[in-house]
Amino acid sequence: MQHAMPDQPHSALRERLKRLPGAPRAAHWLRCLLRPEYREIARLRRQAADQLLQPYTLTGEDRYPAVFDALAQHLAPIAEPCILSFGCSSGAEVRALRRRMPAARITGLDLNRVMIARARAADPDPRSTYVCAGAPEPGAQFDAVLAMAVFRHGDLEATRPDSCAAVLPFSRFVDGLAMLDLHLAVGGWLALYNQQFRMADTPLAARYAADPLLMGEDEALVLLYGPDDRRIDGARERLVLFRKLADA
Ligand SMILES: C[S@@+](CC[C@H](N)C(=O)[O-])C[C@H]1O[C@@H](n2cnc3c(N)ncnc32)[C@H](O)[C@@H]1O
Repeated sequence: MQHAMPDQPHSALRERLKRLPGAPRAAHWLRCLLRPEYREIARLRRQAADQLLQPYTLTGEDRYPAVFDALAQHLAPIAEPCILSFGCSSGAEVRALRRRMPAARITGLDLNRVMIARARAADPDPRSTYVCAGAPEPGAQFDAVLAMAVFRHGDLEATRPDSCAAVLPFSRFVDGLAMLDLHLAVGGWLALYNQQFRMADTPLAARYAADPLLMGEDEALVLLYGPDDRRIDGARERLVLFRKLADA
């Protein structure tokens, strides 16, 4: 039986390799060669940069159980709630919601074609729909919209610059929220977390009420950027669910 190398020497070697001339380019080339989702990310960065938010597709099974449980409770009075998972990646979020709300009509949306294909393959439920797009069909209305780990960027986390303007400016968050708001019914729920911006800093906040649900202390968002694109040091954000009170 093979044993994994201990973390420390492995990551030390990795760090040394990373510093070799041309190493980042070679690593990118290798990743694209071996992993189709990375090839797709490279394509999106070239062809859909104006739409793409977090390019990386990391997700997890039942990643936010407290949020999914709270949503199921809030939506319980609706027989077949319509839910949008914006940036669904390989569909783990949709499947987690499905386990809690078997009758829901759930749409998973993602720009990454490879992840949408994986999501479809993993979910035969006819009430789940997976679409490769950056926005729902015009006029589509949902009782809940989730945008978890989408309004963020791996490159901000890697370098923590003073300003997010060159990577993902605050205006992209405001524009993205305005688009999602168009598709959320009054009284519906917006779930926003794992991101680099705060709902309270946006003009939309005036038409939404924050739910008392708080993410755990250890999950608090700390790399945050404000409306001026400047990093906000010392701030923490634990709010995650927001109820829409009125249309614009
Ligand atoms: C880190 S994953 C989040 C997956 C899941 N929501 C979660 O929290 O586990 C971010 C996903 O957002 C997608 N994405 C980025 N910008 C998007 C956009 N404008 N429209 C739809 N999907 C987008 C990416 O392709 C990626 O799969």
